[in-house]
Amino acid sequence: MAAGGVPNLAVRQALAGQAVAVDGFAEWRDAARELLAWEIAPERVTWRSPQEDGDLFSGAAPAGTPGHAGPALPERGPRPAPHIPRAFMEMLQSAACCRMPDRWAFLYRVIWRWQQGEHDVQSPADEDGARLHAMVKAVRREEHDMHAYIRFRERPADAGPPRFVAWYEPRHDVLPQVARHFADRMGKVTWMIATPEASVLWDGHMLHDAGPLVKGPEELEDSGEALWLTYYRSIFNPARLNAEVMRQHIASDRWKHLPEGKIVPHMVSEAARGARKVGQYDAVGQRKGTTIPIAPEAAQPERQQPSKLDECRRCALWQFATQAVPGDGPKQARIMFVGEQPGDQEDLAGLPFVGPAGKLLDSVCEQAGVDRATIYVTNAVKHFKWEPRGKRRLHKTPAQREIEACHYWLDKELARVRPDVVVALGATALKSVLRTATVTLKDSLGKPLRHEGRWVVTTYHPSYVLRVPGEEAKRAAFQAMVDGLKLAHALLDRPADADAAGAG
Ligand code: URA
Repeated sequence: MAAGGVPNLAVRQALAGQAVAVDGFAEWRDAARELLAWEIAPERVTWRSPQEDGDLFSGAAPAGTPGHAGPALPERGPRPAPHIPRAFMEMLQSAACCRMPDRWAFLYRVIWRWQQGEHDVQSPADEDGARLHAMVKAVRREEHDMHAYIRFRERPADAGPPRFVAWYEPRHDVLPQVARHFADRMGKVTWMIATPEASVLWDGHMLHDAGPLVKGPEELEDSGEALWLTYYRSIFNPARLNAEVMRQHIASDRWKHLPEGKIVPHMVSEAARGARKVGQYDAVGQRKGTTIPIAPEAAQPERQQPSKLDECRRCALWQFATQAVPGDGPKQARIMFVGEQPGDQEDLAGLPFVGPAGKLLDSVCEQAGVDRATIYVTNAVKHFKWEPRGKRRLHKTPAQREIEACHYWLDKELARVRPDVVVALGATALKSVLRTATVTLKDSLGKPLRHEGRWVVTTYHPSYVLRVPGEEAKRAAFQAMVDGLKLAHALLDRPADADAAGAG
């Protein structure tokens, strides 16, 4: 804080209604501390950063510069600088790397609320807290991706340092910490990582910030590439290739950074033409001796399934969602609700049915006399699928292949929770639970089905109740949901595998 209660530039700018310019977390932190000390509310501060707004100092001269009268200062001087716990500050620092146009304003709101005693702002259950967590997560994911997918190319020995160069297009501002990661691991060898916004050089002893040095990957020396491709070919095993898994594992926009990306399509088509039937790669298979024919089933790769939902790449939806939304509820709940997919609020909170549809579900439970806390609530698809509409993210119905890809997780939940009754909320959930589209919502409404040793009760999706036009239709749909839940509850006393054949 400024000595003797003299406000610094950020405070004077905010009081004069001018934008507070910051370039990076350290500057933001210093400005934020000062603004907090002078109790300047978030609504009174406009933030600008040079990357997002080139004309940084346009407009009126900053308050307090010569010839400027300056704004009126609060009569009461600054408060002592607030103590911000280290872990919280680290979280803010991480979130600050997330490329959101309003990041500085958002972070100031968060820290302001914290200082006002609203410590829930750190919690994922809070709206700002959820966003903060999502930003941190996005940054961590980007750091991880950059560690995994960056490729250094060796330059000719006579070209001078740096010996290795790499090009990468990060989605967030993670270059400094990623450079530190490599500096800690690559010893004294010199290297450079270039990105569209900045470059970092390691001279064997320390890191140097080199600004935007090159315009693109074509400007980087790639003499090391041939070596890399030879290596990649030698480790490529067509018998273990599953192109789909490979594509799911590495997002397509990452392929362009990988030198092997150029030869993979060729090797994939080779494998599809027959290399898979001979459990050896061309070069080995052409050598004298016996080739080993193997059955296609045996040639199937051991599919590496993600062990954590949030690492799931079984379909492409993860790329656009903030996070995967797992089911929530008692581990051994007897009733399981299955919805369609998380909505906007669920995507931010990481919990199912917490938005408007969730509120309606709460009312249905209340009306049916069933405590929602006793029910396990989940979705057929675990990532939010959406399309932009202005500033909003509008729900988009998941495709069949996305529903199928997510069966993997629903199956795990069914096996773990082992509910006696599954309540399918709407057509997508029904299709997913029964694994068939032949039973329709209309046909099964109010008629319980036996399926795989448990009851399946079909009812409307809460969003249908919210959207259906007309008071009478709305009331009827709501009542159908209440009746469906009452029916589910009544079925708890009737074992589903006692008699009659199942539906699926
Ligand atoms: N709609 C759903 O199907 N699931 C949710 O979690 C929220 C809205």
